[in-house]
Amino acid sequence: MKHYILQDAWNIIEEGFEPHLHKISESIFSIGNGRMGQRANFEEDYTGESLQGSYVAGVYYPDKTRVGWWKNGYPEYFAKVLNAANWIGIHLKINEEVLDLATCKTEGFRRVLNMQEGYLERSFTATLQNGTRVRIHAVRFCSIVDDEAGAVRYSITPLDASARLEITPYVDGDVRNQDANYDEKFWNPIAHELVNHEGYLTLETRKTAFQVTTGMHCVVERAGAALAPQVTTAEAKYIAATYHTEANAGEEVVVYKYAVNLSSENHPKDQLVAHAKNIMADVVTKGFDVMKQEQAAAWASKWEESDIVIEGDVAAQQGIRFNIFQLNQTYTGEDARLNIGPKGFTGEKYGGSTYWDTEAYCIPFYLATAGPQVARNLLVYRHRHLQKAIENAQKLGFKDGAALYPMVTMNGEECHNEWEITFEEIHRNAAIAFAIYNYIRYTGDAAYLAEYGLEVLIGIARFWAQRVSWSNDRHQYVMLGVTGPNEYENNVNNNWYTSTMATWCLEYTLQSLQYVQQQEAARYNELLQLTRFKAEEATQWQHVIDNMYYPASKELGIFLQQDGYLDKEQILVKDLPASERPLNQKWSWDRILRSCFIKQADVLQGLYFLEDRYDLDTIRRNYDFYEPRTVHESSLSPCVHAIVAAKLGDEQRAYEFYLRTSRLDLDDYNNDTEDGLHITSMAGTWMSVVEGFAGMRVRNGQLHFAPFLPSKWTSFAFKIRFRGAILHVQIDQRQVQITNASSHEITVFIHGAALTAAAGATVGLSQELIKA
Ligand code: BGC
Repeated sequence: MKHYILQDAWNIIEEGFEPHLHKISESIFSIGNGRMGQRANFEEDYTGESLQGSYVAGVYYPDKTRVGWWKNGYPEYFAKVLNAANWIGIHLKINEEVLDLATCKTEGFRRVLNMQEGYLERSFTATLQNGTRVRIHAVRFCSIVDDEAGAVRYSITPLDASARLEITPYVDGDVRNQDANYDEKFWNPIAHELVNHEGYLTLETRKTAFQVTTGMHCVVERAGAALAPQVTTAEAKYIAATYHTEANAGEEVVVYKYAVNLSSENHPKDQLVAHAKNIMADVVTKGFDVMKQEQAAAWASKWEESDIVIEGDVAAQQGIRFNIFQLNQTYTGEDARLNIGPKGFTGEKYGGSTYWDTEAYCIPFYLATAGPQVARNLLVYRHRHLQKAIENAQKLGFKDGAALYPMVTMNGEECHNEWEITFEEIHRNAAIAFAIYNYIRYTGDAAYLAEYGLEVLIGIARFWAQRVSWSNDRHQYVMLGVTGPNEYENNVNNNWYTSTMATWCLEYTLQSLQYVQQQEAARYNELLQLTRFKAEEATQWQHVIDNMYYPASKELGIFLQQDGYLDKEQILVKDLPASERPLNQKWSWDRILRSCFIKQADVLQGLYFLEDRYDLDTIRRNYDFYEPRTVHESSLSPCVHAIVAAKLGDEQRAYEFYLRTSRLDLDDYNNDTEDGLHITSMAGTWMSVVEGFAGMRVRNGQLHFAPFLPSKWTSFAFKIRFRGAILHVQIDQRQVQITNASSHEITVFIHGAALTAAAGATVGLSQELIKA
């Protein structure tokens, strides 16, 4: 754990430059706008350790798979989010010495991510090796108003004496991915041009042939007057304009760099440069200050919709805002072709692709904080990939329209290549079905089933029906060779979570078939033909549902994570020396696999999803057993534990899990923030407040709350959308209040009491009444 980020309600602040923390900060201070994003690399040169990262949504490279031992069924490639042209770069020489924080001394270094207004700011005083002292101040953002544009304001002030400055703003397309399998570069040059202070570079990805045009327009001002560049460079992958000037002591020279980034996913290739020039002209006309004001206003409206306000605990407040801010920077829901990579635009790990994280963790956040079309887009994304999921299942030997969605994907094809995950971590299929259920439960949009949902459900149900096997010994169906969400167990038999979710999928598909048959008979018949569905399938599914084996310990009264779990030496996490954690960095893989330690919620994930099926005692016994064995080495884990703990009234633990999930990256809990932020688990943080502390659930189409106030807080409040209503929920020491900010009446439940709020009205219960 690290505690170098200063606590503040609206800002992420780092003071003092510590090179060994720089890669972590590059992740934490990342900026983005849903179309593009970047790590907080420095504008000026930096020869210290850094992960360069500038990413464009939807642009990837299918990097040829590299494994030690090939297994049939492995995918050909791993889709990687591509490090794209660097548009922030400003090469700076001061009295002929390159400004480089790795070689000069810095004082007063301060980096601030202003979440309220959506920009990154940095300032410091540098003493170069030649003795020159300069003050640097840099501000930049990716515009959420003009989402193909960004801007930098970078100022240089010599402090003690006048200094000769050589300033070279550039765009560099000669970049690489650190995780390239064969050390290749992924971009080919297409076109370049530079006239004075404005230039464009067009590059094309190898194999996938995406084109991206990146442009810059520079304005260098001294004493209020714009300078002209003395030297310009335009090469295949690099454009730059160099300005020479001399600044007096105390005189500020300011560089404005406007940048545009356009991808052929959104513009015809032959018009990329023309469109880039138009957008550039627009943003340059606005100017930096107007762009920044617009950015602040646009962020204000985002916050208006999705903020969570916590009074009385700055660490918790900063944590939740940071999570919401990064989620909103990553995905806006406007484009059904896009999805949410576990690292968003903040790093290369996980390839920038889609995981089950989207369905299991992100959907609830977008359901409540954005219009229903956003979550719908995320579901439609999977519908678009159905055919590929069927092909994927076929490659593994399944048939007749069985669909196995990939563990990792960019375009529907599987990219993951560890057999114990690719072939065995099949529970992802269930999360996709559950998301359909969850979406309909929340929005009431049951028409989605007939339109898209049922087709996906049939493919998924077929897969499960073929994946189980009949055990003559048990006279039950079993599920052999799987990996549950807890990846610290591989190739186990009868993972309770997977088996339970599999039969849940079968049940839900049968119910959905019936629903569509009753509601939309014509579409039902069409779907039967389309999917070649046969009545016998339903009979077989029902047989599986009725005869599935689920491992359990009668003695302990718990579900067993998998067969044989209790054969393991039962040690608790609290007895592990701190020096041995995280296990995945300190123990051999073999030792991890043989231990009882659990990476992330597994049985508890199932109890979270299917909570309504289990009584409180069952949930408590399983929580009491599994929680002490869980190391939470996946970022997706603490939030589920927080929600279950809150449900059980374990307020203290719920709060600890919340802090852990919300400050996971800010405090670098798992010692891996330098790879990028845990974007998808950030939605889990939101869930731990809204579903955990506020206890929000949807039952029978209505909203229920069971709130409690963590003892360190004086109050918390958030807004949610629900079926056309906008509700403002406030919980403080005196009462729980819900304001209906919409134009129709709504009934909500607080701790079981039904309260009807007219349009604009506030309803509530006093805490005294709740306790009584
Ligand atoms: C987790 C998976 C998750 C993936 C991407 C892994 O560490 O175990 O559940 O899908 O990270 O976030």
